[in-house]
Amino acid sequence: MSAALSFGGKVQKIRVGVINVTGYAGAELARILARHPAVELTEVTGRSAAGQPLGKVFAHLAELGLNIREDVGDAEVCFSALPHHASAEIVPGLLAQGRKVIDLSADYRIEDQATYEAWYGAHPSPSYLDEAVYGLPELHRADVVSARLVGNPGCYPTASILGLAPVAGIIEPDVIVDAKSGISGAGRSQVLDVNQFSEVNESVRAYGLDGHRHQPEIAQELNRLRSAAGVGTAVELTFVPHLIPMTRGILATCYARLTEKLSPDELMERYREYYAGQPFVRVVSDPPATKQTWGSNYCFICPKISPQTGRLIVTSAIDNLVKGAAGQAIQNMNLMTAQEETLGLEALPTYP
Ligand SMILES: NC(=O)c1ccc[n+]([C@@H]2O[C@H](COP(=O)([O-])OP(=O)(O)OC[C@H]3O[C@@H](n4cnc5c(N)ncnc54)[C@H](OP(=O)(O)O)[C@@H]3O)[C@@H](O)[C@H]2O)c1
Repeated sequence: MSAALSFGGKVQKIRVGVINVTGYAGAELARILARHPAVELTEVTGRSAAGQPLGKVFAHLAELGLNIREDVGDAEVCFSALPHHASAEIVPGLLAQGRKVIDLSADYRIEDQATYEAWYGAHPSPSYLDEAVYGLPELHRADVVSARLVGNPGCYPTASILGLAPVAGIIEPDVIVDAKSGISGAGRSQVLDVNQFSEVNESVRAYGLDGHRHQPEIAQELNRLRSAAGVGTAVELTFVPHLIPMTRGILATCYARLTEKLSPDELMERYREYYAGQPFVRVVSDPPATKQTWGSNYCFICPKISPQTGRLIVTSAIDNLVKGAAGQAIQNMNLMTAQEETLGLEALPTYP
């Protein structure tokens, strides 16, 4: 099953399938995988479009020459871009057939079943929660390498956790993440006040103030880092997402108070050291813009200390459909199949 093996000079590519190519995350997977040198995208599935040419649903993917099917055939690695619950219903069957699975839904991100069920309802296959690896390679690379099931992180959590990870062990519990997402973060299904142009254009609003499902995911990873650093207190995370009238992008602005005195230069040095050697994280001295990440797997992070209040302010920007979904999933696939981590993901951001 190992990838891109050479038999008599002929390179055997990894056979890969995308489940639910008709959503935004699935389509973005197909776009990036189409240029991945060690992959053959063999099957794509989509409930509402089964039997149709992929190019009929997405003109930009016509050259792949694929038909949308109902199953993933003999794909060795499967990406599930289904909504939560639908994903956990099919993943056990895929694993039983000996395939590796990267699940883009929330079904295998939260390790504690009771926490998952408090936010998402009954889990269809909870016995796999122990085995699933949280697929944030910057934090869990070694576990991803040996995993057969990866829970790919959410888009807001990717930006927020990467923004705070270097200081998770030296901040007070009271943490605020104020985050903004482009409209594609809400998916392709039509919802009047979420993605209809006349409702969202030239308007900004917060949502999820009574609790957003990404809050426990961010808290889980920050608390894991705190435990590893010997800190006994859990974060009290206030997470406030906003919908912004742009197509792609997440900007997470994170606020906390440091428990150690650091100068701005020491803070910057701490971030640079923490992310040294991480191919997709760039620590920058000016606050990043979401547009600088478009179409790329990069996360740009700018850590600052407010001169007026001494408060830590970190801004972190990603493309929600790439580092926040499809790109990160392919980064995980590369690790799971012993490929170069950056393979197929080298594209620089599209700008402006
Ligand atoms: N959008 C993002 O930025 C992003 C980021 C990170 C993770 N994710 C995750 O990736 C997954 C896909 O998100 P998305 O934004 O691509 O969604 P999307 O564009 O809204 O796609 C959802 C599609 O899933 C299909 N579907 C719904 N229920 C189904 C079911 N029970 N069985 C089979 N198909 C079903 C429907 O397609 P049909 O019309 O064909 O039935 C629906 O249009 C979600 O789990 C999401 O949480 C998304």
